[in-house]
Amino acid sequence: MIRYSELKPGSGIYLFKTCASFFGRPLMWTCFLAVDNYIIDTGNARCGQGRLIKILESILPGKPVILNTHLHEDHCGNNSIIQEKLGADIFVPEEKNFSDVTLIYRLFWGRPDSFNCELIREKTYITSSGKKIRAIRTPGHTPEHTSFLIEPEMILFTGDASPLASRKVYLMPEENYIEEIRTLEKIRSMLGQCNMVIDGHYGIIGDPAGHLDTRISNMKQTVDMVRSTWAENPGNYRKVAFMALGKPNFYDPFLQPRISTRNTINSIITGTAGQRS
Ligand SMILES: [Fe+2]
Repeated sequence: MIRYSELKPGSGIYLFKTCASFFGRPLMWTCFLAVDNYIIDTGNARCGQGRLIKILESILPGKPVILNTHLHEDHCGNNSIIQEKLGADIFVPEEKNFSDVTLIYRLFWGRPDSFNCELIREKTYITSSGKKIRAIRTPGHTPEHTSFLIEPEMILFTGDASPLASRKVYLMPEENYIEEIRTLEKIRSMLGQCNMVIDGHYGIIGDPAGHLDTRISNMKQTVDMVRSTWAENPGNYRKVAFMALGKPNFYDPFLQPRISTRNTINSIITGTAGQRS
C-alpha cells in the first residue's frame, strides 16, 4: 500500500507512507520523503512497486538522488527498483548486506534487492530547486544512523532515531541503547530550530518536545532498572529481563535472535551495541 501527499501545495516536499498488507489490512507503515529530486529513504519493498515508480515519475523534477537514514529493510526496500527504473544515485551512511533479514521480516517488509551506492560524505546536499538537505549524525539505532534537516523549511526527518515514546524493550544487535539516548537528547536540543519533525514510522510528530522528553525519561529509567537488577542478579538475563523490562511476550521467539531483550541488557550493561557482550 502507498499513501502520499504534498506537505504544502507547491512545496515540492511529499510525505510517503508504504506498507505491506494482510487481507487488505495495512501492516506497519514506513515513511519517507521526496524533496524536489531527492528521496530520503524509500520505504519497504512489499508495497506495490509498479505504482510507486509511476507516482515518483509524475512528481520528481529530474533524475532522483536517494539519501538513506540507515539500511534496515523497511527504509531502503525500494532503493533498487528506483535505481533500476529511474537511474537514481544512492548515498548511504553505512554499508550493509541483507543476509540478516530473516523469514518473518521478509514476509512483513520484503528483503531489499542489491543496489549500487556510495557513502554519505557531504554535510549538505542541494536539491534541484536549491533547498538544502543537511546530514546530521544520529547514531544509536545503527552505528551511523543519519537524520536530515531540510532548509529553509526546517523539517527534520529522523528515520528510526526517535520512534515511539515507550521504554523500548527490544534491541537489535547493532543498536546501542546508551547512544540512542544521547541522540534523542541531541534531537531535543535541535527542536528550537525545527518547524516540523517527521519520524520514519509515525510520520509528523505532533508534540516533538513532549514525545522526546517522555522517551528520554523512559529509557533512562530502563537503564537504571537494568543496571540495578543486573547488579543483584549478574548474568541472569531471564530474571533481569523479567524484572527490568517486563513479562516476555508470546511472540518473542519469532523476533529472536535479531530482536531481543538480551541485546537490550547487553547494550545497557556494556554501553556498546547489543551483540558485543
Ligand atoms: Fe530501523
